[in-house]
Amino acid sequence: MVRVLFVCLGNICRSPTAEGAFRALVEAQGLGNSIEIDSAGTAAYHVGEPPDSRAQGEARRRGIDISGLRARRAHARDFETFDYVLAMDGENHRNLAAICPTGREDRLSLFLEFAPSLNRTEVPDPYYEGSFGTVYEMIETAAHGLLDDIRARHLA
Ligand code: 4NP
Repeated sequence: MVRVLFVCLGNICRSPTAEGAFRALVEAQGLGNSIEIDSAGTAAYHVGEPPDSRAQGEARRRGIDISGLRARRAHARDFETFDYVLAMDGENHRNLAAICPTGREDRLSLFLEFAPSLNRTEVPDPYYEGSFGTVYEMIETAAHGLLDDIRARHLA
C-alpha cells in the first residue's frame, strides 16, 4: 500500500480538492486498493468542517463528490504513516518541515514538483480571491504526474 497525504492551510479548499481529484484518478485506473489518500491542514481554523462550497462545486462539475470530507490538522505522526506528504505552497512546506521527524524529510515535497509543465511551485490559496477553477486544473495536472511517480517508484 502506498499512502499519500495532501496538505494546505485550512484543509477546506486545495487539499480536499486534491484528495478528491487524485482518488477519482486512482480509482479510474483500478488502483484503489493500492493507494490510500487523505488530506490535512497546517492550521486548525476549520477542523471538522466540510470542504468550502466553491471547492465542492468545482469537483461536482467534474462528477466528483467531496462533500463527505472533514478538515483535520496535519501532525508529526503523518510522516510515519504517509509515503508522500505533499504541500500546496511554500508556507505549508515550511510548516510541515518544522514538525517533520528527523529522518523522514524525504517524504515531504511540494505537490507541484509533479507538474513541471506548469512552471510554478505553488498552488495559490483561493480562499479570499482565487479562481477555484484554475486551482482545480493545476491540481489535476499534478495528480497525473504524481500517479506516474508512484507507478515508477512503488508499483512497477
Ligand atoms: P486552503 O484554503 O488552505 O486551500 O484550505 C484556505 C482556507 C481557509 C483559510 C485560508 C486558506 N482561512 O484563512 O481561513
